Amino acid sequence: MLCITNATVFFASGPARADVLIDEDLGTIANIAEPGKLDTGNTIHAAGKWLIPGGVDPHVHVYLPFMGTYAKDTWESVSKAALAGGTTSLIEIICPGKSDDPLEAYELWESKARNISYCDYGFHMGVTRFDDRVADQLTEIVTKHNCRSFKVFLAYKGALGIDDRELYGVLTLAKQLNIPVTAHCENETIIDELQRGLIARGCTAPRYHEPSRPASVEAAGVVHLCTFAELTGARVYIVHTSCPEAVGAAETFRERGVDVTLEVVLPHLVFDEERTHGTPEDHFAGAKYVMSPPLRSKDRVQEMWNLLKQSKLSTVATDHAPFDYVGQKEMGRGDFRKIPNGIPSVQHRVEVLHHFGVQSGRLTPSQFISFTSANAAEYFGLIGKGSISPGAHADLVLWDPKYEHTLSAKTHAMRTDYSAFEGMKISGRADTVLLRGKVMVREGKFVAASAQGKQIARR
Ligand code: URP
Ligand code: ZN
Ligand code: ZN
Repeated sequence: MLCITNATVFFASGPARADVLIDEDLGTIANIAEPGKLDTGNTIHAAGKWLIPGGVDPHVHVYLPFMGTYAKDTWESVSKAALAGGTTSLIEIICPGKSDDPLEAYELWESKARNISYCDYGFHMGVTRFDDRVADQLTEIVTKHNCRSFKVFLAYKGALGIDDRELYGVLTLAKQLNIPVTAHCENETIIDELQRGLIARGCTAPRYHEPSRPASVEAAGVVHLCTFAELTGARVYIVHTSCPEAVGAAETFRERGVDVTLEVVLPHLVFDEERTHGTPEDHFAGAKYVMSPPLRSKDRVQEMWNLLKQSKLSTVATDHAPFDYVGQKEMGRGDFRKIPNGIPSVQHRVEVLHHFGVQSGRLTPSQFISFTSANAAEYFGLIGKGSISPGAHADLVLWDPKYEHTLSAKTHAMRTDYSAFEGMKISGRADTVLLRGKVMVREGKFVAASAQGKQIARR
């Protein structure tokens, strides 16, 4: 048995000083008691630190054939980066091509993580085509395999996006199977038209990515999805909500009884669209910050924090989608439409949210834990995850709220050749990280000898 003694432990009910006893064989929390009552001799002393549940990032991309290239991370690199940052569970989106069979895609994506991931993992099954054969296979994926959520894209016309008949079919099936549908919401037709207009006028630089997908276009996507959800009765979860307009659109439907849950991702809270302007010497450097929906204006970023504080948003994910600057982002020189979309961020979610949320007084520590772990575990039915309680998985992070450090591509564990967070000074880091009772990170150093990640059982 391993004992973590004297930490400030963050329970679902709030913080308290306590000792936590871990059954290393079962990988679960065996007992919780007042400080000093449980010492086993095999003890981690944690005075001055917080003990928080391992982070759950419900939106990452690892194996991702996208926009003519492949995302850079593998399950080995992404899981090490996640653990180094205090995230112990990841949910990846399976993104089949339109002509691929869902079952084959499920098996392919699953094989990329199995025996390779150092952290625990699950999947959202992306639906990029819908017909009777696909419906049968999706049903099998949900009932026989361990995948309990779908993902649809109302964007990326001609690639991942689906049409309205297909959307209706997916939502109807999800309602029958009683699982949520996660959705990327934009209006792909308007984006197509706006992009063609901009390119025709010679507006080709990364800074034109945002005007090609304005906030109203994202809100229109939300209205579209929620209309279908209202008619089919499906539960929907909107990924990477980037602007108050989209939140407001969802709120209208929520007030009418539609079961809609909102995610915000780290880049939309800490960067604004000026990042895509690049530097005076190199405007194209803004490509490092091109993602969809795009980074928004400063005012909108500020309002997203207010909405998060009011719990209008439920989870903070990353939408980790890692592409190198050299050779990949550069594919879009002369045409911003060809820049692979995505900002690598899986490693920094918990620490950067701690810094800009908790340290700055925008969020309470308990909200920080709800948004980085508990809410996603609960919503996606991740058994054993997201709380510190007897019987729960011992996925635990000993958090040092005062540790100051600077983020850089020179030291990050993600595989990209740049960091969107380069030079950012923050306080707070994952000092020690346990996955099901095994120490994976000690004093900020990755120490796990082998890949022990498992697919997460889901309700
Ligand atoms: O820019 C993004 N978000 N890239 C990844 C694909 C997606 O839309 O989630
Ligand atoms: Zn998306
Ligand atoms: Zn995504």
